[in-house]
Amino acid sequence: MLHLRNRPRRNRKSAAVRAMHSETWLDARHLVLPLFIHAGHGSEPIQSMPGCARLSIDAMLQELGAAHKEGLRAVILFPKISESLKSSSGAEAYNPAGLVPMAIRQIKVYFPDMVVMTDVALDPYSSDGHDGIVRDGEVVNDETVQVLCEQALCQAEAGADVVAPSDMMDGRVGALRDALDGAGYTNVSILAYTAKYASAFYGPFRDALDSAPKFGDKKTYQMDPGNAREALRELALDVAEGADMVMVKPAGPYLDIIASVRAHTTLPVAAYQVSGEYAMIKAACANGWLDERQVVLESLLAIRRAGADVILTYFARQAARWLAAPA
Ligand code: PBG
Repeated sequence: MLHLRNRPRRNRKSAAVRAMHSETWLDARHLVLPLFIHAGHGSEPIQSMPGCARLSIDAMLQELGAAHKEGLRAVILFPKISESLKSSSGAEAYNPAGLVPMAIRQIKVYFPDMVVMTDVALDPYSSDGHDGIVRDGEVVNDETVQVLCEQALCQAEAGADVVAPSDMMDGRVGALRDALDGAGYTNVSILAYTAKYASAFYGPFRDALDSAPKFGDKKTYQMDPGNAREALRELALDVAEGADMVMVKPAGPYLDIIASVRAHTTLPVAAYQVSGEYAMIKAACANGWLDERQVVLESLLAIRRAGADVILTYFARQAARWLAAPA
């Protein structure tokens, strides 16, 4: 027999002992459900994201009804805009009668206690497929920020609770705060995509919205996947500019960044388990190579353990159901 004073296994000896010592857990209240909406009828499955679809406003309301019953209370909307409404200025982004404002108003009628989050960026509306305005092949910063302010005001006017700039332009958090406050929307929160990397894991999302860049890539605004210190620079700026919550994206491949951001701010931290992370798990599970329930919950738990308070995930409904009915 070994003479061991320390036997860590004693703290794992039964389910009750393990539960008593657990450091991290998941709850539906921490999850945000991303939904794709379109102006068409019914729902249109997204091939590279099995289980996700582009939803008409009616279908979205049905989906939210189910999600609400499952315990979810937060949604973030992404619109698929028809090609004919896209332009180089992205003006449809601030059309008060546009798809997103209409969807927000409906959600607020039927689910007043849902936290409604909106994406602030031009890519779904841009004929160039970029998050900002393009001039001579360049995504121009300051002019884009002005349009983003119009977009956020339009969303706030429709009833958005949280605006989430995913565009990665410089200075947009401060500009959005000023614009919102100037129009009296002091209660509208800003969830800043603080460390958003130029990631190949966004592929399925761009299929879903048909929003891939028409030329080049997003590396002049999204971050280099090799950079960690730069995330702290972005964090300091977003905090100074008035962000209410800061986000790291993608989540699973960037757990070190989540931990570092967590360690350097007292603000709530969010992480986005993006479309490619979802698609990988779905594909492996469809092949019978992984156990979906266990792998999904483990992937979300790991993101929480790294330091995320809130997780945006396409698995939100499945996870909420599994958490309500433990195996
Ligand atoms: C664009 C935006 C993207 C995502 C959220 N907002 C894609 C991109 O930056 O090209 C990706 C989300 C996902 O992959 O699930 N503003």
